[in-house]
Amino acid sequence: MKQVNIGLLGLGNIGTGTYKALEMNREHIERTTGLNLQITKILEIDTEKDRGIFVEPAKFTQDPEEVFADPGIRIVIELLGGVEPATGFMVKAMQAGKHVVTANKAALAENYEILTGAAREHGVSLRFEASVGGGIPLIAAITQSLAANEFTELQGILNGTTNYILTKMQTQGASYGDVLAEAQAKGFAEADPTADVCGHDVANKLSILLSLVFGERVKPGDIPTTGITDITKEDIEEAASQGCVIKLLASASRTPDGLVYFVQPSWVNKDHPLARVNNEFNALFLKGNAVDDLTMVGKGAGPLPTASAVLGDVIEIAKGV
Ligand code: HSE
Repeated sequence: MKQVNIGLLGLGNIGTGTYKALEMNREHIERTTGLNLQITKILEIDTEKDRGIFVEPAKFTQDPEEVFADPGIRIVIELLGGVEPATGFMVKAMQAGKHVVTANKAALAENYEILTGAAREHGVSLRFEASVGGGIPLIAAITQSLAANEFTELQGILNGTTNYILTKMQTQGASYGDVLAEAQAKGFAEADPTADVCGHDVANKLSILLSLVFGERVKPGDIPTTGITDITKEDIEEAASQGCVIKLLASASRTPDGLVYFVQPSWVNKDHPLARVNNEFNALFLKGNAVDDLTMVGKGAGPLPTASAVLGDVIEIAKGV
């Protein structure tokens, strides 16, 4: 069986979920792909924390150079989050000839050209399915199965934390603060949840989608963005009285004046497919000139759904290593 060694940067929520999912499905992965995937080095400062997994202490390192310099490591999974040092680490890994898999929407949205350029320059793969829509395989769909389409419209629920909060406020009359704490406990929220509730996380994801879907590079800071922090119980009741729910939407459409895009809380009619996307589920609606209307739905946050996308990328790369 082909063994492929992996370096993991970060054993936080998603790193732990990825480690767990790999152990949970190891036999299945070996049987169906013939791959023996081994995480042999882990960059992590906190080696004492009880994560509910067993990690041989010798795998831990606090020196990223140990991962980049290890000739046995072919794939580096970056799950540190944040723009830096994550971007620099990914570039170094690629310079060292390693393929990179990441879930890091902030780094990709900010440094898309640098990261994709480094992959091209060094002839390695850079895959990031987990960066948008968690477990929904939407990047693979857009870049492969739907690649022949020209798209005119995109609408998405792209943040699990805020969708969870809005759903609970709607269905249980819950208070904003209590539900945010719940979303954090479930591992949906960012380390700093203001990125979720202020809409910046969605802007990062929309920035990545604008490149892939429309071929237009827009930095997240240039996307008009409003979060859900000002949404009140009264707003939700008012929308409900008109047969609508409030969702934090990422939108983009081609108009005669060019591409128009924004992130904002929006009223969605209860009959619309996006109105029924609740809790940490995400959804992406696309209008393509060949495929027509298409909606993809799935869990957009949480350690295991995100790990599903991370490991899918790893397996895809490992097949060709
Ligand atoms: N904080 C993000 C969310 C995680 O809630 O959707 C997944 O990108």
